[in-house]
Amino acid sequence: MIFARIAGTGSHLPGEPVTNDDLVRRGIDTSDEWITTRTGIRARHFAAPGVTSSELALIAAQQAIEAAGCAAADIDLIIVATSTPDFIFPSTATLVQAGLGIRNNCAAFDVQAVCCGFVYALATAEKFIRSGSNQRALVIGAEVFSRILDWADRSTCVLFGDGAGAMVLEASDKPGVRAMALHADGNHHPDLCVPGNVAGGQVTGDPFLRMNGQAVFKFAVKALDEVAQEVVGLAGVPQESIDWLIPHQANIRIIQSSARRLGLPMEKVVTTVDIHGNTSAASIPLALDCAIRDGRIRPGQRIVLEGIGGGFAWGAALIDF
Ligand code: UT7
Repeated sequence: MIFARIAGTGSHLPGEPVTNDDLVRRGIDTSDEWITTRTGIRARHFAAPGVTSSELALIAAQQAIEAAGCAAADIDLIIVATSTPDFIFPSTATLVQAGLGIRNNCAAFDVQAVCCGFVYALATAEKFIRSGSNQRALVIGAEVFSRILDWADRSTCVLFGDGAGAMVLEASDKPGVRAMALHADGNHHPDLCVPGNVAGGQVTGDPFLRMNGQAVFKFAVKALDEVAQEVVGLAGVPQESIDWLIPHQANIRIIQSSARRLGLPMEKVVTTVDIHGNTSAASIPLALDCAIRDGRIRPGQRIVLEGIGGGFAWGAALIDF
């Protein structure tokens, strides 16, 4: 039987941290007290003008390949989850492929599931590997969300940041990814969206992120609780065997609720929302890489990843590291 295992991870955050007080100094009508109390966010990173998702992704990918102890030429599949691609086309994944100098025998494409994009990309790569068609996949979440923020909308612009996280997933005879569950309900699309596009050389509609925060909050708490329980059930493992929860990093209150439902103390939850803000598809692989590199997550441990984003689209994975 072929399984998909994590072989290495990497991540990248652009520039210096931008604190809540820095946002106030930039003229946003907010306060450190409001942002910290409502969300747990203290700082985030913003890419410099002109820096793209593929550039952040490439640095994270190079780290992940090094951690996996393989060569770029060994990668035969690249999937990038992003809602802020460099271009309408080609895909950001092909730009990463070019940056890595990989020419042939490697498929590359993007996945769009907003803040759940990394979980969707992971599920896709896992299925390619388990089918036997591919041996070693690079799965990346990369975003420059700062480009789609309306700085006049304080209810959203204080929440998001830029960054990238990457994972090399490889074929193995030992279980790695044990269970995955994906869901979507497009009826909620107006609650979290960028409802614009380009046509005829013009921006059509609204090119900024819009969110009904309370509706997203309520749905997220319930959906994440359910999907985390679902992957534990699908994997057929005891809930007590979970060593780490790595949730999408949008709001510390949503994260705390998820941890409670899984019976996990906060010491077993990786949180980076305080220092990264919400980096959408990049948030889960960024948090994972932080906790692997600082030695918290160790080989043999069991982790649950969970995410939710626009659509709504949500999902989870249970993985033996
Ligand atoms: O990544 C995708 C998933 N996204 C999420 O999970 C986000 C889920 N939602 C949330 O995290 C929360 O709903 C928010 C953090 C976005 C908002 O928190 P809230 O407790 O739901 O606040 P609210 O939207 O109900 O706003 C409460 C008050 C309002 O003032 P009034 O009308 O009560 O006077 C807002 O105008 O807070 C005000 N407000 C702010 N004040 C200072 C909104 N944004 C800000 C701000 N600074 N940045």
